[in-house]
Amino acid sequence: MTRSTIVGGAVIFVVTAGMVAPTGLRAQQSASPVTYTRNVAPIIPQKCQVCHQPESIGPMSLLTYDDAKQNAQAIKNRVAKRLMPPWYIDKTVGVQHFKNDRSLTDAEIATISAWVDAGAPQGDPKDAPPAVAATTDSNDWQFAKVYGKPDLVLKSPPYTLAARTQDKWFRPVSDTGLTEPRWVRAIEIRPATLDGRKIVHHVLTMLEQPEMGVTNLAESAHDMQMTAGLFMEWAVGKTGELFNPDAGKLMLPGSKIHWEIHMYAIGREIKDNQIELAVYFYPKDVVPPHRTVLKMFDVSRGSELDIPPNSTAMTQNFYVLQAPARIENFQPHMHMRGKAMSMEAVYPDGKREVLSAVNNFQWRWHVNYIFADDVAPLLPKGTTLVFTAWHDNTAANPNNPDPRQWVGWGDRTVDEMAHAWVDVTYLEPAELDKLVAARKAAAAVKKLP
Ligand code: HEC
Repeated sequence: MTRSTIVGGAVIFVVTAGMVAPTGLRAQQSASPVTYTRNVAPIIPQKCQVCHQPESIGPMSLLTYDDAKQNAQAIKNRVAKRLMPPWYIDKTVGVQHFKNDRSLTDAEIATISAWVDAGAPQGDPKDAPPAVAATTDSNDWQFAKVYGKPDLVLKSPPYTLAARTQDKWFRPVSDTGLTEPRWVRAIEIRPATLDGRKIVHHVLTMLEQPEMGVTNLAESAHDMQMTAGLFMEWAVGKTGELFNPDAGKLMLPGSKIHWEIHMYAIGREIKDNQIELAVYFYPKDVVPPHRTVLKMFDVSRGSELDIPPNSTAMTQNFYVLQAPARIENFQPHMHMRGKAMSMEAVYPDGKREVLSAVNNFQWRWHVNYIFADDVAPLLPKGTTLVFTAWHDNTAANPNNPDPRQWVGWGDRTVDEMAHAWVDVTYLEPAELDKLVAARKAAAAVKKLP
């Protein structure tokens, strides 16, 4: 069972139910054959169930031994290549602690592979951890585990998509109905139905509001935080945004949401597709000191992508930070030929560091990699952010529909894009110094004997 708790302001997804065996026991186990009940049952349902259960988005259930045995070879293939669970971060560089990490450890992958190779034996039922029941998790709001029920849920007007048609972009407007200013600490978006999840490629929600009397903006980056702008972006495979406990978004009375909903036909009419936007507010008396801005860092240099047939291509772009900032997440956006993307910092003193990299991009999974609060990069003014994107238009890319085509920038999923969605929290220079000093002090305490 995956539970989330809030520890010292940080959201932690805790995996329970017998995941940790005492060291002595583990040593003893490694000598005996790997079985489902003893070794695999503590991993597979727990890490897979949210999507692999009836009425969820996965193609099959993975709740029981029989489920796992039936799919053993496919499980090994996907897990060993790190295609499942969906989490495509390069584990060798950059920030490695996330609020929403759902990946398996190397040891867990080795256990699953060894079990499949041994013929997927069941083992002794009395070794098994308590059975995992199907839950309504996948149809629930995911961040409700963290913050309780969403405070505001908005629905886009319904749209019926024909069985066969060009990609469609639907751009309606909804009132938020807010009568007082509220600070937002998390946002989640989902197509309202399972069918909707099959046709929606992405959703943009723009927040439009009269920006009068807005407070709590870092002076050093005032202009950069002045507009509400993009509220949240969603694409297949994403859940939402969880803000650092000292930051958030501000919604004002009279605000409206402008939706942009990109859909693609799947050969069957989908009636009344609707998107739901859930907003989790800070308590009324809590005003976080920072207003986070969702930025789209374009890597394709203003739609200049040029990806010849049967080849790979690299493209790069640079952004100089005009004020000190904390980088809260990394979410690359590419399409079917997307292969990898990295985000690096070149500090004002010339030091260069990879902040995060996705080295096995899968276009169906737009995972938002949300950095843990205590490791989100703190960057001084004048730091250059370097984004590099790689596309693979060869036959070696299993997601490539046709390596003989030249591919350029475009909106359709068979065209390409390259950009990163990143939440930036601008800070005053003195605050940056304070946060950096606090981290150094915490690290020093950890080192004490
Ligand atoms: C966030 C949701 C999610 C999680 C978590 C997840 N899966 Fe999946 N899985 C899917 C979806 C959706 C598909 C079908 C689309 C695709 O292949 O990407 C899939 C496909 C698969 C397939 C291929 C099935 C087939 O025959 O086509 C296997 C095998 C698989 N998952 C195993 C696992 C295992 C094992 C875990 C846990 C260790 C896991 N998945 C965790 C959503 C998920």
